[in-house]
Amino acid sequence: MNPIPVLKPDMPSADQLLPYLRRIDAAQQYANFGPLNRELEERLSAECTAVSELQVHLTTVANCTVGLQLALMACVERPRVKVLVPSLTFPGTVSGILQAGFEPVLADVDPARWVLTPEIARKAMMRVRGIRAVMPVAAYGAALDVAAWDRLTEDTGVPVVIDAAGAFGNQRVGQRTLVAFSMHATKALGAGEGGFVASRDPDVIARVRRLSNFGYMNAGGLISDIGVNGKMSEYAAAVGLAAMDRWADICEQRRSLADRYLSALRM
Ligand SMILES: Cc1ncc(COP(=O)(O)O)c(C=O)c1O
Repeated sequence: MNPIPVLKPDMPSADQLLPYLRRIDAAQQYANFGPLNRELEERLSAECTAVSELQVHLTTVANCTVGLQLALMACVERPRVKVLVPSLTFPGTVSGILQAGFEPVLADVDPARWVLTPEIARKAMMRVRGIRAVMPVAAYGAALDVAAWDRLTEDTGVPVVIDAAGAFGNQRVGQRTLVAFSMHATKALGAGEGGFVASRDPDVIARVRRLSNFGYMNAGGLISDIGVNGKMSEYAAAVGLAAMDRWADICEQRRSLADRYLSALRM
């Protein structure tokens, strides 16, 4: 037996991390959106802006699951609403909905594309009353058609949060649609644990950021919402930055692997 791994984490080495760890030593800020987190956010946002062809704002989070939770809390007002979600996904998608205090409604996926489509969502929203948000999943990292999801929000007023845990570099952020990405070690851009929530709307991102920091509104300690601790530490940001330094090489390697699979499968 010579097993072929479906996925091997591809993380930065200790040497690649060291300059960033030294910067943490020098700044002596270890958490709470320090300089490394802010630099990582700028670099991630430049990449997402290029992919999305619109200005993307984002905030880092401890992981994608908490990002999904906070994105829903930031854009859905009513308590105990129903959120439509595909039945083919990772448990974190449904955990995010439940942790936000909402009720997941599972929908079948399109048999050809393995994803929840806007057409399926529109039908489900006519059949099931009380669906106030939709959380489609970019299954296996394949990007969803964000313009079609934007249209669903325009037509119905129902917000859409895409779970794009494995689709960094691939999934566009919409005019209206929010997107949460994972930086788990198994993802294209790994920080060990981590993630971020991206949107065109800076106000929604500011709300997600507050929710990820206990709901603190300002340094004076005023609380605007009941939040959680979902922040990314400076150490995870250091790994994220070192991974970002390798991003062009990572993309190249993934492209060449995909080409090899495609040509072998065609044989
Ligand atoms: C579709 C999907 N959603 C959510 C997650 C959870 O991401 P995280 O580990 O960053 O919370 C994953 C992780 O594999 C995933 O594949």
